[in-house]
Amino acid sequence: MATKEQSFSVSPTGEKFPIPERADYSVEYDRIAQLIAKNRADGREIVAVLGVGFVGAVMAAIVADTKDGSGKSSKFVIGVQRPSTRSFWKIHLLNRGESPVKAEDPEVDPMIRRCVIEKKTLVATYNEDVLKLVDCVVVDVQCDYLKESLGDLQTGRTDMAALEKSFGTIAERIPPECLVLIETTVAPGTTEQVAYPQFKKIFRKRGITSEPLLAHSYERVMPGREYVKSIRDFWRVCSGVNETAKKRVVTFLNEVLNTKDYPLTVLDRPIESETAKIVENSYRATILAFLDEWSLFAEQNGVDLVKVIKAIKMRPTHSNIIFPGPGIGGYCLPKDGGLGMWAYKHILGWKDNIFKITPAAININDTRALRVAEMTRDALRNMDRPIAAAEVLLLGASYREDVGDTRYSGSELIVRKLTEMGAEIRVHDPYVDHWWEFEAQDSYPSAEYNLKRFFRNQEKLSTLTVSHDLLTSLNDVDAIILAVRHSHYMDLAPDDVVKSIGKPAAIIDCFGMLDDSKIRRYFELGCEVKGLGRGHVNRIKKAAKR
Ligand SMILES: NC(=O)c1ccc[n+]([C@@H]2O[C@H](COP(=O)([O-])OP(=O)(O)OC[C@H]3O[C@@H](n4cnc5c(N)ncnc54)[C@H](O)[C@@H]3O)[C@@H](O)[C@H]2O)c1
Repeated sequence: MATKEQSFSVSPTGEKFPIPERADYSVEYDRIAQLIAKNRADGREIVAVLGVGFVGAVMAAIVADTKDGSGKSSKFVIGVQRPSTRSFWKIHLLNRGESPVKAEDPEVDPMIRRCVIEKKTLVATYNEDVLKLVDCVVVDVQCDYLKESLGDLQTGRTDMAALEKSFGTIAERIPPECLVLIETTVAPGTTEQVAYPQFKKIFRKRGITSEPLLAHSYERVMPGREYVKSIRDFWRVCSGVNETAKKRVVTFLNEVLNTKDYPLTVLDRPIESETAKIVENSYRATILAFLDEWSLFAEQNGVDLVKVIKAIKMRPTHSNIIFPGPGIGGYCLPKDGGLGMWAYKHILGWKDNIFKITPAAININDTRALRVAEMTRDALRNMDRPIAAAEVLLLGASYREDVGDTRYSGSELIVRKLTEMGAEIRVHDPYVDHWWEFEAQDSYPSAEYNLKRFFRNQEKLSTLTVSHDLLTSLNDVDAIILAVRHSHYMDLAPDDVVKSIGKPAAIIDCFGMLDDSKIRRYFELGCEVKGLGRGHVNRIKKAAKR
């Protein structure tokens, strides 16, 4: 995480790294060039991975871990990362053999260490000029969708700045025959209508007459315990702008991924591969959003949506119906549909508005968490405690169970709304050390696009800390919100919880985490229980009172 100073990049553990100066660049270039020459002489293909964030860092290690048929390392990988104050520290960590991303997958750390320290097939650099020396570039930089208002996707726009800049950086440097594999989730049309013309123009200026070899293949990586497997041992879709690019990308992916067990799907054109990614994620965002209205229906009519879903799932055709938690987070689902909608107008040139379901789904998912704040207010009201000044403990900050990734988590919105309503917030999450969305709320993810701007009274949240000590966190709270299905929370016994709190409290279940016997016990202990989609709690309350 960067500080506001311009000349240093500070890692999440507080290590400070000076941003390189002009004079450092040539020394760094020589260092990498020598390594490349040695590895090329040893018969290795030279691959650059641009952007060593959540995806690029692990993808770089997977490529660097590749062996040929005789068991010899066949790729030398250079992680190329811009030396921004926010991200420069990642280069130093990687070069020490440490992962720049905190991963719950036990395979990540040893794999990075093995490739950097033992095999010496992975290095990282800030000097983009090394792209002059590579055979293949994998692009893993971000492409964000910036929302201008809460719950209205239509007013947002795609932020292609980092991506377009990296296309220029690559095109100005690579050898003409270098394969450029775009893995970033992009607005459909980007490879053929944004990258290709940009490459052609720059190639022409450089006097290169051959066609740029551009390909697209999107990542389906899932943070969590199967981080590496979700890249290496998982199905891939790919395509290229011409037959050569297509052949090259198929060869590359066959070499670095386990395509024997997870075969590749090769599509005719990059726009099809790009669209596949957007449709895949919009579909998932939609089936989650679909249950939001039924969740309300259930709450208002004595229905337990958790049991309803379980009953429906017995039918094989409906096995992927999923209970939506308090908001649909992660980096991809909240934005990808927006990229498609934006591309239709701003890359592909249509003026009509054909998108109804995709934006509606994202809008619903983006505001579902507000219901949790209402529910907390109402549960406390039933206990004659006002929400203003109530002490509320949020259990879980990340966007899904048993990971530490907080990007666009529903929990963030819960905290912001409850703070606006005057509540005092405590947070516990065993996987999260820093909740940057609050700690750096004026600069992360960027100065003008933090969710902070949609709520009042948010300033004090800059000092919000995340506790790893559940017992202390519970002490004397008025309400607890079970927001994420972390394994740590699934077996909490009502008697222990209420004993640790020291008094009855409001218990809000956002994710179907309480079974009926626990709900009943909380009522017996004098607590108030409410839950998303859990309309049957009042029945249990009446029975407990009897
Ligand atoms: N994180 C996920 O779970 C996930 C899953 C599937 C797909 N994706 C997609 O993968 C892509 C990358 O996502 P991420 O999570 O790794 O993002 P990230 O923000 O963690 O990483 C991007 C990195 O690229 C660097 N960068 C930006 N511009 C650069 C440039 N010009 N040169 C060099 N480096 C540059 C940034 O500093 C950053 O370190 C996105 O398109 C995302 O949608 C992500």
